[in-house]
Amino acid sequence: MIFKDFLPYLEEKQVRDTQNLPVFLVGMPGSGKTTIGKFLADLLEREFYDCDQMIEIKHQCSISEIFAESGEDTFRDFETLILNSLSSQKNAIIATGGGIILREQNRDLLNQYPVVYLDAPMENLFRQTQTDKNHRPLLEGDRQKALVDLMEFRRPLYLEVADVIIETKEKPQTLATHIAKWITDLEAI
Ligand code: S3P
Repeated sequence: MIFKDFLPYLEEKQVRDTQNLPVFLVGMPGSGKTTIGKFLADLLEREFYDCDQMIEIKHQCSISEIFAESGEDTFRDFETLILNSLSSQKNAIIATGGGIILREQNRDLLNQYPVVYLDAPMENLFRQTQTDKNHRPLLEGDRQKALVDLMEFRRPLYLEVADVIIETKEKPQTLATHIAKWITDLEAI
């Protein structure tokens, strides 16, 4: 687990009050954002939100249907709207979609909040994305190649918004306890 220093963190984010801020989880599809996020929310007794799920509920259709019927740009517009509205949820734990870091506007917003990057090895991403394909149209076809290409392009963008990098080498519950400690330490500053 790699932490960025707390003080630059506070200066970078121009945060005076670290209490009550929502915490965002970012990372590639299959990195465990939703699973770890739920454990984390339980541990901290906070509300959990999943951006993709919120989009599906709001628009009453699956992510794949949005991509197929309206295109990726429209999906990204929905994603930005959800991100903006969730950022006002105090104390929330928020799992984002893997592509949230693609838009500069989203990165600018994430840079004002605590962000955890779940850095998973490629074999984990490959294994974890075998199911739930309805939700991941970008991984249709050669999934291994798609993941490698996405990772290569996106990794610097995840790192740009991350305040803590969690290498996902332990069980989701264990990782959630590490992240919970980081959040409680941060809020104690
Ligand atoms: C996407 C990841 C998906 C979902 C959509 C686009 C991406 O979320 O938002 O299919 O661009 O990586 P997960 O990261 O939960 O798979």
